[in-house]
Amino acid sequence: MRNPRPHWYEAGLDHIWLPYAQMKTAASPLAAARTYGSRIVLDDGRELVDGVASWWTACHGYNHPHVAMAVALQLERIPHVMLGGLVHEQAATLARRLAAMLPGDLDHVFFSESGSVSVEVALKMAVQYWLNQGRRGRTRFVAFKGGYHGDTTGAMAVSDPGIGFHTEFKGLLPAHFVIDLPHDEESTAAFERFLERHADELAGIIVEPLVQGAGGMRFHDAEVLRRLRAGADRHELLLIFDEIFTGFGRTGEMFACEAAGVVPDIVTLSKALTGGTLPLAATVACAKVFDAFWSDDPTHALMHGPTYAGNALACAAANASLDLFEREPRIEQVAAIENALARDLAPCRDLPGIVDVRTKGAIGVVELAKIDDLAGLRRRFVEEGVFVRPFGSIVYLTPAFTIEPEDLALLTGAIMKVLGGKAEKKARKGKQAK
Ligand SMILES: Cc1ncc(COP(=O)(O)O)c(C=O)c1O
Repeated sequence: MRNPRPHWYEAGLDHIWLPYAQMKTAASPLAAARTYGSRIVLDDGRELVDGVASWWTACHGYNHPHVAMAVALQLERIPHVMLGGLVHEQAATLARRLAAMLPGDLDHVFFSESGSVSVEVALKMAVQYWLNQGRRGRTRFVAFKGGYHGDTTGAMAVSDPGIGFHTEFKGLLPAHFVIDLPHDEESTAAFERFLERHADELAGIIVEPLVQGAGGMRFHDAEVLRRLRAGADRHELLLIFDEIFTGFGRTGEMFACEAAGVVPDIVTLSKALTGGTLPLAATVACAKVFDAFWSDDPTHALMHGPTYAGNALACAAANASLDLFEREPRIEQVAAIENALARDLAPCRDLPGIVDVRTKGAIGVVELAKIDDLAGLRRRFVEEGVFVRPFGSIVYLTPAFTIEPEDLALLTGAIMKVLGGKAEKKARKGKQAK
């Protein structure tokens, strides 16, 4: 028999309001007791191989000793000081390192505490970039179908309402333009025409480069980003890459912009920035953008300042995470994961109801025609000893880059087994109905 649920679970569950959950009907959350490597140990003793890396953050696996040590040391020195009037070594060092890693002159790093807020900052930067130069009316953005940029108001407004996260808030949101990515001749022509018509009211273009994550793990190629860069240049628009998901190796290179060979004017980073330990985000601007704020006029300053901006513990974790990218073969590990995912998910193509199987870097996706019972599917994965969170019509893996090949095989094997079993059950039911 399984252990009873722990006291803290029973006592707290009536009070914690969980994300994206219909609290009345959602399946009870699993009680996590501890983590290590690519494993989540539940309070009842079960151990799950983690296929999600905690919403794509834990790139070095859980509890990496180097990150843990850096945070512990920092906790003794300075846990946090405000960045108003003060600065500390960890934030300054991290800013320097990010500027050195990013391509082109993406040299100016503004810290915040979550991906959504870093997107808000990027949007404000872009709008004020124009205002500071006396250009009024350039306040809108072009974003793309399938895109997701976060859950705060500005970030919702540049996300595709069609993907279902923000439908209820339509009336609240500022109106921007959500159009097709220029992925073929027709959509490229439409994109060009759109810019011709609207450039004067636009501050910029925002896109998740190479992979649209929460919108369904949809991939596009570098040519699309080159078209965006060319369009932005032709019409003097700022190009914003939201690398909150794609940054730090996920697509196979350190940043998707590098992989694509396209340098944006502003980039947003979060998630794996701290190796999945503490909340931190960064909005990084190129010199041209920063220079538009450089002035004797105090009203030209960027008016944004999260209380926990550049938190010292989070910056220490991020610096330690970057050490690991330098010292350990993360990008090679991603390449090995990509090969294993491509090989081991390929047989899913032969299962009925599967419309696509795709992989890029450490992202593996099996897309179904539809998922009828999402909760049931999620439960089946737990029964198989893996933590996999299908959403929409996809089952996907975004494991830690340090995952052992055996654990990765358990994840892909579980997908094959669960989706195969699902197909079998459907076929059985179909026969019975006939
Ligand atoms: C591309 C992208 N942008 C922004 C966000 C929002 O980040 P956060 O959840 O940290 O606010 C996410 C989160 O999934 C994301 O994938």
